Amino acid sequence: MTRKKLVFANWKMNLNSDSASQLVKDILLTINKDIDVEIVIAPPFPYLNLVSKLIEGTKIDLASQNIFHEENGPYTGEVSAQMVIDMGSSWVMIGHSERRQHLLETNSMINKKLIISSSNNLNAILCVGETYDERRQDKIFPTISDQLKRGLSEIRKEDLSNIVIGYEPVWVIGSGKSAKPKDILEVHNFIHEMLVSLFPKAEELPRIVYGGSVNSENIESIISLENVDGVLVGNAALDCKKFCDIVMKVGGSHD
Ligand code: 13P
Repeated sequence: MTRKKLVFANWKMNLNSDSASQLVKDILLTINKDIDVEIVIAPPFPYLNLVSKLIEGTKIDLASQNIFHEENGPYTGEVSAQMVIDMGSSWVMIGHSERRQHLLETNSMINKKLIISSSNNLNAILCVGETYDERRQDKIFPTISDQLKRGLSEIRKEDLSNIVIGYEPVWVIGSGKSAKPKDILEVHNFIHEMLVSLFPKAEELPRIVYGGSVNSENIESIISLENVDGVLVGNAALDCKKFCDIVMKVGGSHD
């Protein structure tokens, strides 16, 4: 089955209200409206509403970069699923490695977030990936298997169509050099097999997208791989031309 390819822009903690609105306006002017690619932009929380208004009625969807793992309550500084939905988000990123690293997010917190996002009908991208040390110590598959098993615990097979797995090898994020296609292929195939074994009865399994120094030069060698259903873009998503080039090449990668 051919599944719609996804290009997901993670702006991380970058831009301001002026540069964010300019970037969205430029992307909307540049992108071919008929392109058969799902496009999602994840701005920082304070710009969700701004971006939501700019993309209204366009083919771009809005994501929040995070939600808190409780529905509401005394959690100063945190943001709930309902709040990001209220700001126009239909997507949420869960378990990005930068949050696992700097905010000490655990697989158990990540699992709670995924359960909350599913019960609120948000589409979620669950990020997994090994660190450099885990790769060196030959722990890629145990690490990813653990992240998937714990992250997806108690998720119902009916909710899988709203979930995407983002494979982001931590050691290539922001490095300017993506993982090698053969390494990406190996891990994506592994994730696919794991999903089949975790959800043998599912009609639709989550799509699997790759992230880590994706750019307009390496996109074609990545998107053409088996079990690569799209890409998660960081740095290159902050530049209209680079981002739109990626979208266009993804759009041209299938018939
Ligand atoms: P870069 O594309 O900057 O490596 O970032 C990838 C990423 O973390 C997307 O979530």
